[in-house]
Amino acid sequence: MAARAFFPTLIYFEKLRASRLEQLNADLRDEAYKLREFDRAGRRWSEDNYAGGYTSYGSMTNLNTMSSVFAALERDIDKHVKRYVKLLEWDLLGRSVKMSNIWVNIMPSQTVHSLHLHPLSVISGTYYVQSPKSAAAIKFEDPRLDRFMGAPPRKAKCKPEQKPFVSFPPRPGHVVLFESWLRHEVPAGRTTDDRISISFNYDWV
Ligand code: NI
Repeated sequence: MAARAFFPTLIYFEKLRASRLEQLNADLRDEAYKLREFDRAGRRWSEDNYAGGYTSYGSMTNLNTMSSVFAALERDIDKHVKRYVKLLEWDLLGRSVKMSNIWVNIMPSQTVHSLHLHPLSVISGTYYVQSPKSAAAIKFEDPRLDRFMGAPPRKAKCKPEQKPFVSFPPRPGHVVLFESWLRHEVPAGRTTDDRISISFNYDWV
């Protein structure tokens, strides 16, 4: 083959390595709803920024220091982040990559999280707790999209790695990791129940 791919963008998607996943998800689900009930500032923030849904992103992002369930989740996610750092072949220069914040998202039918990135962090990701049928998938955009203004479109049936967008299903018990500069969104889903996820950032410290 004369042409090789360079400058890859690695997206990591894997089942969480943890014992008793079902119990963990039940506990996280309970905590998410308790938090929503108790977090008045977060509900207010969500009204303005997360229509129809609830996120603690604007009010409480240190859940790993507040709850043993989230502290355990952090330890489980750490193992995957270590593996991801290895795959990225990062030289951390004696420093480490550490969880800096973690928050809850409850998305009922039709709630949207528009295109964004996670400034100031190096790795971001989401863990899926509950995903009803037809819950929306997280959608990533080719980071070079703005350079392709004059380029011909890619074939509809091209290989997944050639597509300008890629989506990952919100499979409960799975974790998705990506570099924090990679733009992504969660489009609206049509569901009868809530889509519940936990998002987080890791910093280079
Ligand atoms: Ni995000």
